Amino acid sequence: MTDTGDNSLTVRDNRTGKEYQIPITDGAIKAAELGQIKVADDAPGLSTYDPGFTNTASCRSSVTYIDGEKGILEYRGYPIEQLAEKSSFLEVAYLLIHGALPTKEQYDTWVHEITHHTFLHENVKTFMQGFRYDAHPMGMLMASVGALSTFYPESNNIADADNRHMQIVRMIAKMPTLGAWAFRHAQGKPYVYPDNELSYTENFLAMLFKMSEPKFDADPRLVKALDVLFILHADHEQNCSTNAVRSVGSSQVDPYSSVAAGIGALYGPLHGGANEAVLRMLRRIGSKENIPSFIEGVKNGNEKLMGFGHRVYKNYDPRAKIIKKACDDVFEVTGVNPLLEIAQELEKIALEDEYFVKRKLYPNVDFYSGLIYEAFQFPPEMFTVLFAIGRTPGWLAQWLELVQDKDQKIARPKQIYTGDRTLDFVPASERWAGSAGITPGIS
Ligand code: CMC
Repeated sequence: MTDTGDNSLTVRDNRTGKEYQIPITDGAIKAAELGQIKVADDAPGLSTYDPGFTNTASCRSSVTYIDGEKGILEYRGYPIEQLAEKSSFLEVAYLLIHGALPTKEQYDTWVHEITHHTFLHENVKTFMQGFRYDAHPMGMLMASVGALSTFYPESNNIADADNRHMQIVRMIAKMPTLGAWAFRHAQGKPYVYPDNELSYTENFLAMLFKMSEPKFDADPRLVKALDVLFILHADHEQNCSTNAVRSVGSSQVDPYSSVAAGIGALYGPLHGGANEAVLRMLRRIGSKENIPSFIEGVKNGNEKLMGFGHRVYKNYDPRAKIIKKACDDVFEVTGVNPLLEIAQELEKIALEDEYFVKRKLYPNVDFYSGLIYEAFQFPPEMFTVLFAIGRTPGWLAQWLELVQDKDQKIARPKQIYTGDRTLDFVPASERWAGSAGITPGIS
């Protein structure tokens, strides 16, 4: 037994009566320390069982801080509220990737680099045109980002810092082009090439909505609102898609393949799809008069109030507060979405109701974001694509941290095996004796 002082955990194994002292660092113990706890020298060591990693830290990270009880979200130490109000998406992307705010010169170089890598190889266009007319844009985005690794085969040299930087710039730059082309594809409209004279978010809107006009002129209030939405989605520490990026990246594959895995994870309804469910719910409620009976149904367990509750936030999701404010700016341009009134009344009633108060259920990021996206005339399938564009710098910051972290190893969780052991294999010719058919392996 080693003495590790007060900052340790004493564990007594009642199977053997032995005691162990396990050091506590940063409020955690190393899972590997449990491996020394055995009933016999040749027996397997103790491990933890944690499906969904609900109480297991998979890394040390300095990218994003969340305090769910207090409703705090910070990127590299900066509160999300200040970044949303005073920064821009590309500056936040720089902050996430580099760990500090840029000087004027660094920022100008960064914007120049991103702006001049927005174009895609023409074969990517041909590749995207090969999808069916009704292909889901997230499927198209995931496949196209994965395909980029074949256009930049040098990207697998992840040990080289300049090379890593190049791929990071390319991915942040090309994601809006891919997203916009996936959107145009579903509409049967020609793909619009990037315009290097526009800002990142203006250019994205132009590639989405430009028709025959020589220059697309987006309303600055809409540009700002979309930029803020990108900032709000830029990172959220070890969520499902970031964990996918890190897990795949731990095999030392190129970053395009890792981010494609993250997009796959985000595609799932439990991760990126709740805002669409909020819209469906608001439509079904239909008018303010129907809210009390809807709330009663939720309290009786018939259904959930979508856009409420969060695994981490047990307070108002700070992103929801900012989005609620952004709604006003967007609706000033597009006209009010009649569902907003229902959403606001629903929120008011829920926040005063004992059921929601007791369970600490507050609006999350998805409660109002769908309303804004709809005001932009995005179809629901595009909502997750917008999320993916915003999340790209976060995925890449986390990937960069992973590949430079000496503690990291290839992801390889343990399992608790529950199946059969040492069965005797009986060949099919004996098992199937008397029945007509083909013997496996013999054609
Ligand atoms: N409406 C009604 N009751 C709810 C809701 C809700 N939206 N969310 C949780 N509860 C209840 C739940 O039934 C449980 O009640 P009881 O203790 O009586 O069994 C209690 O609150 C605790 O819920 P939980 O299921 O243990 O909480 P969780 O942390 O496992 O789930 C959640 C979190 C987000 C999956 C859940 O709140 C939910 O399904 N919300 C609706 C869907 C939604 O808005 N999802 C978007 C999340 S934000 C996305 C992001 O950050 O990327």
